[in-house]
Order: sequence, then structure tokens, then C-alpha cells
Amino acid sequence: HVLNIDPNAASKGTYEFYMLKEIDEQPGVMRHISQDYLDDNNSTKVDPKIAAAVAESDRIYILAAGTSYRAGLVGKHLFEKYADIPVEVGLASEFGYHFPKLSKKPFFIFLTQSGETADSRVVLKQVNERHLPSLTMTNVEGSTLSREATYTMLLKAGPEIAVASTKAYTAQIAVQAVLAKAVGEKKNIQIAKDFDLKHQLALAAVGMQQLVDGKEKIDELAKKYLANTRNAFYIGRGIDYAVALEGALKLKEVSYIQTEGFAAAELKHGTIALIEKGTPVIALINDPATADLTRGNIREVESRGANVMVFAAKEFAQVGDDVVLPEIDYYLSPLLTIVPAQLLAYYASKNKGLDVDKPRNLAKSVTVE
Ligand code: AGP
Repeated sequence: HVLNIDPNAASKGTYEFYMLKEIDEQPGVMRHISQDYLDDNNSTKVDPKIAAAVAESDRIYILAAGTSYRAGLVGKHLFEKYADIPVEVGLASEFGYHFPKLSKKPFFIFLTQSGETADSRVVLKQVNERHLPSLTMTNVEGSTLSREATYTMLLKAGPEIAVASTKAYTAQIAVQAVLAKAVGEKKNIQIAKDFDLKHQLALAAVGMQQLVDGKEKIDELAKKYLANTRNAFYIGRGIDYAVALEGALKLKEVSYIQTEGFAAAELKHGTIALIEKGTPVIALINDPATADLTRGNIREVESRGANVMVFAAKEFAQVGDDVVLPEIDYYLSPLLTIVPAQLLAYYASKNKGLDVDKPRNLAKSVTVE
């Protein structure tokens, strides 16, 4: 069953912190997105003008900051596979002052939960000055980036109150998948038409529910490995590298543990010098092409004394892995892999007695450059 929490109820209810409530709301958000963006025979319900505008482009530029940028790194895989369009993902703050050489027919997508991020607005202003097409994917209807872009798609995640973004991240991935499918359908691409996104989002909702129901196990991992550490690493390959970056951001911004997300093979080109006895390393394994290689990287850090936690897809799971991830398409696996990472961050922070929803020096929406 999937708990149908009303994601529009902006109150903590029985929760101590919004962050956990919003993690728990993710199954319901997946169902909302599926109901609103896909009809019963798995065709997308996206404004045809948007699908046509993106289909005409020869390169998609995804601009964002923080967690939304990390959602864009997943979106790149989805658009390149299902819309057959090359994607460049950029940090809005860098892009805004150093526009790269643009393709002939660029299309700009802004990912932003708040719709008010100043770094992203800097880019959108210049995109508009150049009369180029843009779409804002946001959780806040009527927000500045939504109003100033050519098109808008809403995340439908309900109010996200905790500073650490969780359900907006997974909603951004799901809505990017919807758009990628819609554009692929417009371009008459068979794998896009065959992409059973309705079924995949149902798997996401059920898998997320299973993972949030197992939260006590994640609390134990946090207590065992993260209680007294100054640093930690997330490692992954392929789409898991993008998730490693988001898992690292979650952990550091709410628990203040210095955490780096790393491409698993890259660690041995220098940074592995930081691994010492007891260093926590969380390894993510969903990528069919590199699962065995990542197991090798796990052995490398274990031989240097690391405490390794493994989140692995069922087909690659081994005895001793800490979290076995439920079944889902590899390209949507971030929807599930990120859930134990979100929970690990939540418990690491809560167990340190920190204000999980309002980490020091952070704002929910960064409206200054
Ligand atoms: C993520 O947990 C942070 N709250 C932060 O990185 C956030 O994602 C970033 O500031 C972008 O905000 P936006 O999605 O509202 O543009």
C-alpha cells in the first residue's frame, strides 16, 4: 500500500521535523505527478507547445543551484535517452557570468523548488534578452522564475518547508522524465512511446514506501557509522554518481559532516589518501555496466579501513549490503536510491540534537547572489 499523505497539508502534524514528513510524502507525490501528467494509457499530458518547443531544439541547457542542480544531472540521462537531445547541465551562478558558446537552437530548463533563486534569475534574464525559449520547473506557482520563463511545469510536491530539499528533488526527476517522454513522443521516438512511465512511477511510489517504512534501520546505520565522524564519502558510477552528489549535499547541510560525493573510480586518483580507519563511505550500486567495478572500489576503501555502507539494486545486491533497493528502471533509480540517503542525513542530524529543518547559516530560498 502507499500512504496517501496529503502533501498540501503544510503542518508538522505528529512529526518532530518537516524534513522527515516531506521524505515520507514522496510516495504520494509520485502518485500526484502520475495522475496529473500521465493519462490511463501512459500518454503524457503536457502542453503540446512545450513538447514542440523542446523537440525543435538541438541542445537542452538545464540551469539550477544546489539540490535542483543535482536533479538536473539525473535529468540529463533522461532527456538524452528518451528525447534524443544532447543536454548540458550548468550551475546557474557560473553560467550567468560565463555563457558558453550556445548551440544554434538552444532550449533552457530552469529547475527551482522556490522559483526565486537569484543565481537562476541572472541566467533567465539574459536568456530572455536573447529571446531564447525557456521552461521553469518549480514547486511554487506564480513564482518569479515561473512568471519570467516562456513556459512552466509545476512539481506538484506540495509545500516544502524544511531547508533541505527532499520531495522537490524526486519530483524534479519525475517531472523531467514526463517531459523527456513527451518530447520523445513528439519526435516519434519508439523507446519514448514504449517508456511505461506510469508503471515506473507506480514502482517508485511503492518502492519509496518500502524504504521509508524501513527507516529504523537507517537510524541504526547513522548511530553506528556517523555519530563521531568529521567526514564521509558517497561513491557511485553512472547515474549513481549524480545521486552520490545529492546524498553528500543532504548529509553535510543538515549534520555538518564534511561529505563528498565522488565518481567511484575517481577516488583512487588522489582523494583515496583521505580514507583512513573508520571513514564512512556510502556506496551506491544500480548501474548494470559498472556494478562489479564499484565492488572493486569498495574493496579498495575497505582495505584502507573505511566503514562502508552499501545501497544496491536487488539484482546486484550481495549478502551484507545495508540497503537493498526495490525494483525500478535504472534511469529512474535515483528516485529510490536517494531515499535512504535522505533518511541517513535526517538521522545523523537529529541524533546530534541539531535543528534538522533549519541548519545553521542556510535559507530555504537563496534570493541573493
Ligand atoms: C538543498 O537541500 C538546498 N536547500 C539548496 O541547495 C537548494 O536546493 C538550492 O538553494 C536551490 O533552491 P531552488 O530549488 O529553490 O532554486
